[in-house]
Amino acid sequence: MARHVVATVDELPPGTRKFLEIDGRPIAVFNIKGEFFGLLNRCPHQGAALCEGPLIGLAQSRTPGEVEYTRLGEIIRCPWHGWEFDIRTGQSYCDPRRFRAKAYPAHVEPGATVVKGPYVAETIKVAVESDYVVVEL
Ligand code: FES
Repeated sequence: MARHVVATVDELPPGTRKFLEIDGRPIAVFNIKGEFFGLLNRCPHQGAALCEGPLIGLAQSRTPGEVEYTRLGEIIRCPWHGWEFDIRTGQSYCDPRRFRAKAYPAHVEPGATVVKGPYVAETIKVAVESDYVVVEL
């Protein structure tokens, strides 16, 4: 699995998303309360740009007449037919066994580890002693 740098942390504050194309695939990366998640920007129902829909919460009911609204901003509603998906997993709440949006792992890496290239030149320790430059091999 290849790694791709998509943004600096500052470019994606909590509650925002960024759209990009990686290897020909439309992807959206979300910052949900400081955690990052990637989702294929294609609805598994009929192919709408899923990630352009509104961020909503999850309405759950334990007993008739009581509705609890939780996980605000963690669910995305498809702009075409309103199907809802969990951004963390791609899970559908319409038909969980048949429909799942493709989720991609996303995480934060320190800049120093990302900027490093794959190749490392051999380094040699150098010290200055009493006006002589000494190289240690
Ligand atoms: S295309 Fe997304 S719900 Fe129909």
